[in-house]
Parts: sequence; C-alpha cells; structure tokens
Amino acid sequence: MQDAFDLVIFGGTGDLSRRKLLPALYAGLVAGRVDMASRIVLTSRSGLKTSTHTWLEELFEQYVPACGVDADTLDTFAGMVTVVELGLTDGGPDWEALKALLQSDDGRALVHFLAVPPAVFTRTCELLGEYDLNGQRARVVLEKPLGHDLESAQAINADVGRCFDESQTFRIDHYLGKEAVQNLLALRFSNIMFEELWSARTIDHIQITIAEDLGVEGRGGFYEGTGAMRDMVQNHLLQLLCLVAMEPPARLDGDSIRDEKLKVLKSLKQYSGPEIDSNVVRAQYTAGAMAGEAVGSYKDDLELDHESSTETFVAIKTYIENWRWANVPFYMRTGKRLPDRFAEIVIQFKPIPHSPHAGWGKHINPNRFIIRMQPEDHLALRMMVKNHGSKSEALKEVEMNLDVVGDGGTRLGPYLRLILDAARGDQSLFVHRDEVEHAWRWVDNIIEHWQQADSPLKTYQAGTWGPYEVHDLMVRDGRQWFHETSGRLNNG
Ligand code: BG6
Repeated sequence: MQDAFDLVIFGGTGDLSRRKLLPALYAGLVAGRVDMASRIVLTSRSGLKTSTHTWLEELFEQYVPACGVDADTLDTFAGMVTVVELGLTDGGPDWEALKALLQSDDGRALVHFLAVPPAVFTRTCELLGEYDLNGQRARVVLEKPLGHDLESAQAINADVGRCFDESQTFRIDHYLGKEAVQNLLALRFSNIMFEELWSARTIDHIQITIAEDLGVEGRGGFYEGTGAMRDMVQNHLLQLLCLVAMEPPARLDGDSIRDEKLKVLKSLKQYSGPEIDSNVVRAQYTAGAMAGEAVGSYKDDLELDHESSTETFVAIKTYIENWRWANVPFYMRTGKRLPDRFAEIVIQFKPIPHSPHAGWGKHINPNRFIIRMQPEDHLALRMMVKNHGSKSEALKEVEMNLDVVGDGGTRLGPYLRLILDAARGDQSLFVHRDEVEHAWRWVDNIIEHWQQADSPLKTYQAGTWGPYEVHDLMVRDGRQWFHETSGRLNNG
C-alpha cells in the first residue's frame, strides 16, 4: 500500500465526484490500496443537508455495486471524509479553515483535484497559491475539458502554470488509466515480437472506436456547443492513438512517454478544407429506438426549440506522417446513442502475400490484435489455425486471449489508479501541456473548417451505427469496421 495522502476534491459533491471519484476511493480502501490515514476533503458551495455518513451511504447504494458496501468499511471511509463549504471566487475565513485543516507534519502528498468547470480553474489555483497550498508536496489534477480551443487551453495552462510547476500539474484523461491501455504498453514494450510487427510493413490499418449507447443525459448544458469532437476526439481518441503509434520510449517515465506521444501529435496529417469533408464525418442523432424502446432525438433530449449544429458522432480517417506509419490509415469514431457500448482498438495486419494452398483462398482472415477497454478489459490476437480433426486445407479463425485472468492482482479502476499516481507524483499516465495544445491545434483546424464552410451535419437514427458515410469511410478503401465483420468465434 502506498503512503497516506491528503486529497481535496473541488466540486466534491458534484457529479464526477459522486459517480466516479468517491466510489473509486472507496474501492481503493476495500482493496487495501488507500491508507485509512488518508484524508479526503470535499469542497462544496452549499454543504450537505444530511450527515456525511448518510450522504455517502446513499451515494454508494447507487454507485457501488450492491455487494461492495459493508458497514465497517463505510464507517472508516466516512471518518476519512470532511465536507467543507467553500467559495471559489474569494478567499476569507473558509480558506483559512481549509489551510488549517490541511496542515500536516509527515510530508504527505497533497492532491488538489479540480472537478469543476475550467472557467474556475484559474481562480482556484490562484487561491491555492494565496493560501500557500501549492508548495512542494502539492499537486493539482485538472479534469477535462481543458478549454474549448487552443487559445482557451493556452490561457488555462498559462494561468495554472503561474501557481503550479508543470511537474506538479496532472492533466487527467481517464482513458489512460484503463487496465487494457496499461496492458497495451506492457505488451508492446516487453515483447520483441510486437515491436517487430508494429509498423507499415505489416499493419494494414488501425481502428479506434468509443461507442456509447447513452444519449447526452443530464449534461445537455455542457454538451451543446461542445460536441463529440471536443468532448471525445481531442482527448480520449487522440490519446489512445498516441499510445498505439508512439515510438518505444527510452524509459517508461512521465517525460519520456509524453515526449513520444507529442511526436505523434505533431506528425498527424493536417487536412485542408475539402479534404476534411471527405475524411471526417459529423452527425447528430434523431429519434429512434434502443433495445426496442423509442427514444428521442438530440434536440428532444435537450428540449431545444431551435436548430443545433452540435455533433454527437464523429468518424475520422487520418494518417501519421512518419517513417513507421507511412500510408497506414487510422480510422477513429465515437458517438452517442449507438446500439452498443464498447471501446476498442483493432490493429489489423496485412493479408498474407501469397496463399500456398489453393483451397485457402479467401477463407483466410487477416490477423488482428484487439484491445478492448469497454465494457470489459480484454486483449486478444486473432489468428488462423487448422480446423481440428479435418484436412489441413480447412482453416478456422481463433482468438488467443492475452488476459492474465486470475493473476491474484486487484484491477484498479481508472480514477483510483490516476489519483494514486498523482499522490505518488508519477506523471506517466497524465497529459503534458504541449500535448493538450497540439491536440487542440489539430482539432481546431477541423472545427474551424466546419464553421467557415458551413459543412453539412449528417443525421443518424438513435440506435444505429451512424450515417451511411461512416460505413463508406471504410468500404471505399476496401475495408470494414471490425464490429461489422466479426461474429462470435467458436474456439472449440
Ligand atoms: C467523458 C465524456 O470524458 O467520457 C463523456 O465527457 C463520455 O461524454 C465519457 O460519456 C466516456 O467515458 P467511459 O469511461 O464511460 O467510456
């Protein structure tokens, strides 16, 4: 178990804290990963209407699986949590009290998690500075979105940078904390065979998908004017692309990994206007059906009485213009109200150059390496083998499972892993300011074109896989989205 730490969650009674952070910390306590001497301070504008214990109990009933909450652990956890009323505009007695509360003489890490809108990042950091809460043991964790374009991101980074050094600044992308993403790094850099195969010589193309079945739920206010490009592509999808495509870093430490990811972002193909229209699809869902139930459109969900040009789906074909990846297309897509919820990277290898058996013909599927992050963590290799018991010309495709099931270790949820890393001062799974800014530069180029050219927004029915153009992005290249090709395999 790592040392006890102090964690202040600004926006501590808000949505992210309730749904993700507190359940993750509770799971960390249960798993023996969070020291019970740690302190968790939740700041809130208006405080709680019940006791902290009751509030947590009700919260965990909703967000921690039923088998997970036990009375003694809940008591211990509630004893670690303090809720404080605190404004984020002006200092004053509440801030003095916070400072006093956070006094510590054991040199423990002090992690400030800013689960608040980016518009208040600057002032919160200034106040942390004014009250001397940004010293050596302090770290600041910034939840996305980091701005809404390059300019606003630069302004936030500069403001935060005046109060916290880059080595104290932890920009979170929770996709980097997912188990399968960690495993991707482990497999890539601890096995020579992957490195030997990892390039344009053997890889045909790469697909990255984050599909969600939910609509915009209660987040319409945020989503309208944000859209899938800013909400998902600028961060999660580009970060996943970086991890797949980066060169092997000299060391698996924060600076080395982030340097390599940055090189990938700098090598992304910059499309000009008309190229954007043919390589990027944007769309919004209309009314449809999910699992047999009728569901409304995006505009219904937001109760909008005017047209909206916010995209809830984006698909992109892009390239990384360097030696390793020359001419290998990277297809990315993400959308809300799709038929299924999954997140997956598919690395599809080239077909064999020559079939030595006339009977094999088109029955040979290309090899695929699959990294699934959602709904379960899963890594697998798909290969062709002889069909057991039949003649050698009969082949079948099998899936080689690369998970280490039952290894006795505890799987940490992404937020717990990232909070523990921040407390330890390990930045390898966090995003450097240069990465954020380069990702914005690339995304801004596309969004600006959409705005200037008034590019048409396509539509798709809720409960479908997006407009026809998404399918076409692949088919016109003679390829297919993996979910459209793969059936369940019978490995028996
Ligand atoms: C968030 C986005 O960053 O990621 C949400 O703001 C999205 O719109 C979520 O639903 C998806 O995360 P996950 O881990 O549930 O796939």
